[in-house]
Amino acid sequence: MRSKASVKGHSLHPMLVSFPIAFFTATLVFDVLGYFTGKIFYNSMAVVLIIAGIISALIAAVPGFIDFLYTVPPKSSGKKRAAKHGIINVCVLLIFAASLVYRSNTPDASMNVILLLETAGVVLLVIAGWMGGTLVARNQVGVDHRYADAGKWKEVYLNAENGRVEIAGYGHLKTGQMMLVHVDGRRIVVARMEDGFAAFADHCPHRGGSLAGGALICGTVQCPWHGSQFLVNTGAVKAGPATTGIPVYPLQLSNGKLWLQLA
Ligand code: FES
Repeated sequence: MRSKASVKGHSLHPMLVSFPIAFFTATLVFDVLGYFTGKIFYNSMAVVLIIAGIISALIAAVPGFIDFLYTVPPKSSGKKRAAKHGIINVCVLLIFAASLVYRSNTPDASMNVILLLETAGVVLLVIAGWMGGTLVARNQVGVDHRYADAGKWKEVYLNAENGRVEIAGYGHLKTGQMMLVHVDGRRIVVARMEDGFAAFADHCPHRGGSLAGGALICGTVQCPWHGSQFLVNTGAVKAGPATTGIPVYPLQLSNGKLWLQLA
């Protein structure tokens, strides 16, 4: 699923999170150095690093939230994972902000309290980073798909009239390629096969993976998350772990136009 917050196909959120991860981790390192050496320089640097971490985290959160809303497939395990990832990161932000406020407003601030807060923040940061890695590596959030012959993955937004919709741009699809069509809140995949077109729901019944980002071979679509396979003409399961099929939609090709029936 190509990120909705990207530049030339490069997802912004994974790039920007490097900064708060580095700043917050360095904050703890500098405070530990200050604790053991007694040199105030290290603690002063830690304050600067916390401020840099908070600012960069807020900036990185913007494309992350956009991806959460518009890139991660709805009603999926990825959506739940992304929500937990976001909540944990907010906790990290609050912990380091609390550390900053505490040390700034307390004349005899305890280094033990500060180090405890920052250690908890870094531990949560590692957990959130692990989840973020899973969102990219397994759930493929932000992956910019390409088809054979350098065909680009396509996504269009269309409006239905009287229960049917004309699939604009279907002619650009080559055999084995798919496009994701948003119609009245539904996500539908239009696929081109050797012997015609097929339309089916963009929702794997196993854990909600986006089938539009999968592979289409010989009338079978394979989910990119755990490999379930479905026959695109009937929606039947060909291989698990999914145990239930997917909804399919009738298509009609007339006068050079491709129509999809919703009802
Ligand atoms: S989400 Fe698990 S196979 Fe599709």
